[in-house]
Amino acid sequence: MIAQLNALLRRLPPGAVYLLGLLPLGWIVWLTLSGGIGVDPVKGIEHRLGKVGLWFLVGGLAITPALRLTRLNLIRYRRAVGLLAFFYIALHLVAWVWLDMGLLWRQAATDLLKRPYLFLGISAFALLIPLALTSNDASVRRLRGTWRRLHRLVYPAVLLGGAHYLWQMKVISIEGWIWAAVVVGLLAVRFSFFRGSSRG
Ligand code: HEM
Repeated sequence: MIAQLNALLRRLPPGAVYLLGLLPLGWIVWLTLSGGIGVDPVKGIEHRLGKVGLWFLVGGLAITPALRLTRLNLIRYRRAVGLLAFFYIALHLVAWVWLDMGLLWRQAATDLLKRPYLFLGISAFALLIPLALTSNDASVRRLRGTWRRLHRLVYPAVLLGGAHYLWQMKVISIEGWIWAAVVVGLLAVRFSFFRGSSRG
């Protein structure tokens, strides 16, 4: 079954993953234009972008455990998934600064300092910037071992992003607990691999 799936996946170029990854954006644009985004369109857009970003971020984290535990090989899509996570989280940030804060930078800065969950979110995003900038082949070649170590920043980024998501809820929902369990589970599996192998 997994072998057949891997054989099918070999026919799917990474470029197709970028295109498929843009579908949620198309869906959000469609909901906005058709009036289906909800009673508060700003929150509707902002929340959906954050949620899609979280999906890709956690999805990227699941790729190595999926290979080691089930032999499902999605490794060649890891860069696309990571860049899509960065793209949606950047749009989530833009939605907040532009739609929510109305580009009022002073108010945005005050809000950032006043609400710790926003500070966690921006810290997670800041950690993702060097990863996105060094995701190209030239950087992988140039940085070698440093590249691997640098890209471990994704773990604190996921933790900060996850904490941001949980904290912005008034009361943590069942969905929130499920996300927390998935992130903790994936990190536990990932770090048990680190201890078992030096390849990371
Ligand atoms: C890795 C980084 C981040 C992730 C994974 C993330 C994810 C999320 C998620 C999943 C939600 C809730 C969506 C829902 O309830 O359906 C959310 C809400 C929110 N996020 Fe983020 N986010 C990140 C970074 C940021 C940044 C950089 C900002 C802006 C500084 C930000 C601002 C917000 C705001 C304003 C809300 C809504 C809070 C509310 O409605 O009260 N996020 N985020």
